[in-house]
Amino acid sequence: MLPPVAASLPELQRRYADLYTRVSRVMPELEWQAHLPWIDAILRLKKQRNAVILAHNYQSPEIFHAVADLTGDSLALAQQATRTDADVIVLCGVHFMAETAKVLNPAKTVLIPDLEAGCSLAASITAADVRLLKQRYPGVPVVAYVNTSAEVKAEVDVCCTSANAVHVVESLGSDRVIFLPDQYLGKWVATQTKVKLILWHGACEVHDRFTAAQMRGIRAEQGEVHILAHPECTPEVLAEADFVGSTAAMVTHLRKAQPKRVVMITECSMSDNVSAEFPHIEFTRPCNLCPYMKKNTLPKIHNVLQNMSNRIEIAPEVIERARRSLERMLAVGRREAA
Ligand code: 13P
Ligand code: SF4
Repeated sequence: MLPPVAASLPELQRRYADLYTRVSRVMPELEWQAHLPWIDAILRLKKQRNAVILAHNYQSPEIFHAVADLTGDSLALAQQATRTDADVIVLCGVHFMAETAKVLNPAKTVLIPDLEAGCSLAASITAADVRLLKQRYPGVPVVAYVNTSAEVKAEVDVCCTSANAVHVVESLGSDRVIFLPDQYLGKWVATQTKVKLILWHGACEVHDRFTAAQMRGIRAEQGEVHILAHPECTPEVLAEADFVGSTAAMVTHLRKAQPKRVVMITECSMSDNVSAEFPHIEFTRPCNLCPYMKKNTLPKIHNVLQNMSNRIEIAPEVIERARRSLERMLAVGRREAA
């Protein structure tokens, strides 16, 4: 696939020199040059379509820094999706994130660059599974991590993200809560609250691969290193970390702690993307790639904007019920902030 070229390479390099300073630490000049025609074409098309690009923290740096209007964790993307005036939202993330944007903005056109950008957590549970759980535990409120399909969200009482899971669970005022689908996030939340959680057996295939032995190896090899881990990791990995939190909480933590050397136990683009804000921090490996997040590319973003394809379509009755669960989550956030 060839990008529509509207200017010479030196002209594009001049035009987007500021953007390159944000990614130069993690991207060789030659790679940047290959992205430039796509970046230019997407930025022009975005204006014509009155579109906004929302990108998750795990998107590749050329998407995150060069074409996205708004970036963040799942919670921030859900919040920003409610505030945009654009006619079109291109969600650079995975399918459940694009569905969330559609549920919160049913009148807008929501596009995803690759419809195959799934999530092992979202795939681990169906709406029928949730109905069976509710039959088994009648009257027990159900919290769904946003990493679920719109049909699952439609069956539950409230959604949460890893950034607000503890507050959401406690907001229900119940001594027992069904928490799905991530068993590890659930186990981590259980360490932060007195509420008893009934867990589903889902797991993120990306975070599940990290091991406690790997964490001990990092400390042995790298000496003074600050380990930040996402709560989708196993309890054994989290026990070895200096800080546990959502992708946004990790950034907030770095701003406060200002450690010298950091390893982020999460998706690889996370540290690449935040390194622009923290030039004095050395980010080291390991990390794991999310194959679903990485399905999004600049040519695919250009393609959906050009053809207005890969639209997210959800049945109106599912939108209605899923929106209640998402809005209840956003209201908990507003109460916390007040
Ligand atoms: P955050 O909500 O922390 O961005 O996480 C989303 C996700 O999919 C992590 O794997
Ligand atoms: Fe899903 Fe894991 Fe990828 Fe996040 S990192 S989108 S939880 S598979």
